[in-house]
Amino acid sequence: MIKKMEDKHVEIETQKLKDYRLKQPLLLLDQKKILTALPENLQTKIGLDIYSQLPSTNQYLLDDNDRNYTQPVFCLAEMQTAGKGRMGRQWHSPFGQNIYCSLRWDLPVGVCQLSGLSLVIGLAVLKALQQFDPSLLLELKWPNDIFARGKKLGGILIEMLAKSSGSCSVIIGIGLNCNMLNDDDVIEREWSSLYHHLGKPVDRNVIVALLIPAILTYLQQFIDLGFASFQSEWNKSDYLFDKEVTVMNRDQKIVGIVLGVDELGQLRLQTADKTVITCAAGEATLR
Ligand code: BTN
Repeated sequence: MIKKMEDKHVEIETQKLKDYRLKQPLLLLDQKKILTALPENLQTKIGLDIYSQLPSTNQYLLDDNDRNYTQPVFCLAEMQTAGKGRMGRQWHSPFGQNIYCSLRWDLPVGVCQLSGLSLVIGLAVLKALQQFDPSLLLELKWPNDIFARGKKLGGILIEMLAKSSGSCSVIIGIGLNCNMLNDDDVIEREWSSLYHHLGKPVDRNVIVALLIPAILTYLQQFIDLGFASFQSEWNKSDYLFDKEVTVMNRDQKIVGIVLGVDELGQLRLQTADKTVITCAAGEATLR
């Protein structure tokens, strides 16, 4: 058992190979605990799969086409061996420490109506985390990074399958650093975890039970009213607001001061010659 845990990089201390102790408490994901903490009306309306290990929770739902996704289906894993990040990056997904969560749901809208969806999910994650602990100082970095005190706490990866009916099946992946204290130097950018900010480990089950209703409520408003109804809420949490950034999108590079997002969730930048440019996609870095 010790060997199996070490293979999953669970840190174990030992004295004279006789006494073994976990370096950090290990509180596993628990389907029953999450379901009973959900509002009653949701408990029977969602699917919730929990795996010990998957290559990627997003990929698992993308590939699983035999199921009916007219109701939302959530998938969580204790670890991912090929966690996917944006821009083809890997998402570091060690065992038992963080939240790796994906949702697949058939939405009654076409792909072109989904502009701003990932920004809305960022807002839902912020809402759930603020409910979890109001002392957290959280911001959103366009398009969909969750930031805490200037460091990345989580990210969102949206994938979709267009359907012949004109609707589409969306796969929304959320990675949230919870109890991770070191990354074995795998992550290239500055990152943090809830443990860093709160000074104690968190129960991921409680956070997931807050995330699920927040995501579904925000998604419903997005379907009914579009991104415009979230524009001002998003701009209040904008980490990049008034900062000078470079936005890279494919081969294009734009430099400017961030003015917030427009009613479609596109980033507005004021360039050196005072013109305002909007970016629909890309990666923003501070200058
Ligand atoms: C980013 O690069 O910021 C997006 C990271 C998204 C990671 C999550 S973890 C759960 C889901 N499954 C994946 O393979 N990726 C997403």
